[in-house]
Amino acid sequence: MFRICKLALLAIASLTVIPVGSAMAATLTGKAPIVIGHRGASGYRPEHTLAAYELAIEMGADYIEPDVVSTKDGVLIARHENEISGTTDVANRADFANRKTTKTIDGLPVTGWFTEDFTLAEIKTLRAKERVPFRDQSYNGQFEIPTLQEVIDLAKRKSVETGRTIGIYPETKHPTYFKSIGLSLEEPLVNVLKTNGYDSPDDAVFIQSFEVSNLQFLKTLTNLPLVQLFDASSAKPYDFVASGDSRTYGDLLTSTGLAGIAQYAKGIGPWKRLIIPADTVDNNGDGKPDDLNGDGVISDADKPLQQPTSLINDAHAAGLLVHAYTFRSDDFFLAPDYNGNPEAEYEQFFKLGVDGVFSDFPDTAVAVRNRVAGEPNKDVPEPTSLLAFGILPLAEILRRRKAQ
Ligand code: G3P
Ligand code: CA
Repeated sequence: MFRICKLALLAIASLTVIPVGSAMAATLTGKAPIVIGHRGASGYRPEHTLAAYELAIEMGADYIEPDVVSTKDGVLIARHENEISGTTDVANRADFANRKTTKTIDGLPVTGWFTEDFTLAEIKTLRAKERVPFRDQSYNGQFEIPTLQEVIDLAKRKSVETGRTIGIYPETKHPTYFKSIGLSLEEPLVNVLKTNGYDSPDDAVFIQSFEVSNLQFLKTLTNLPLVQLFDASSAKPYDFVASGDSRTYGDLLTSTGLAGIAQYAKGIGPWKRLIIPADTVDNNGDGKPDDLNGDGVISDADKPLQQPTSLINDAHAAGLLVHAYTFRSDDFFLAPDYNGNPEAEYEQFFKLGVDGVFSDFPDTAVAVRNRVAGEPNKDVPEPTSLLAFGILPLAEILRRRKAQ
């Protein structure tokens, strides 16, 4: 009798077992969070190159993230923005000197060279360079600008090689702008994905955008999961600006806003400061932000963390995944609270229940994820399943407790 009661108590206690690691809030699905190689392993190789994506995969990233823009001939290529002088050698090319121009992109004047003024054949003559001055510059000039198709080809080839499903996580960049010049991103994006067999809600693909209306349009074109990106609360999606809608990202973060997003999206991709805010301090009272690390500039390293918001819980309550961006190991980008240890940042976010992280350094993200939350392919029953069945099989309870 005592033994039966003890087992029953164990079973009841199991209902409060948190499914991904101890001392962690649950992810939405109960599975371990995913690691997304942000622009590839862009902490180590020039961003949005096949070399950066391949390294991210080899480091264990579950997804690779191409931002996409269009060429003049309507081919989607991987670049963070359509102005390419910051990430390619275009400014050194005398034959393209006359392409330099100034345009208004998302309401702001931008001077440089623009992908929509180059054919794919011309883009292929350029070479990528490292954007961030304090990162490794030794790969500059080595790599081509990949098309989205080439990124997909890589993901498929590496899936076979590694035995893991390598997902892709494309982001439409400047969709309102590209639509305005007759080079809409949505149709070619969906066409490329469908041609490659991606059109199911269960495929390892997420499509993301900072704009709202193009995600709502994409919802009519594809069954793939969509992710609404969030910038700072005071900022506005550019399609809202263009259409005169006064709402900000902050308005979309309310329970009403999140419920609206859940109508078309599977998840949200918030700037990580919407989950754990940070700000400068003025401890010496001189009216200026304190340069806490004394490097002469005010950066993320000079912004102590504040209390976490309720965003992860709010999004989960609306049934939305939360994939936060961007995690970077460089001292310049790391909050002082972490004392130079980027692992501490991942640990904090994983323990808050984030469902995924966009990381420039996927090796570190994967190491912490596996240590804190377990590997993603080792499925754990979802909390809702546990409740639906009312009880975990006792053998599973005992197995888990033994494993802890
Ligand atoms: O897409 C998530 C994150 O990449 C958004 O920021 O500017 O790096 O594309 P960004
Ligand atoms: Ca992105």
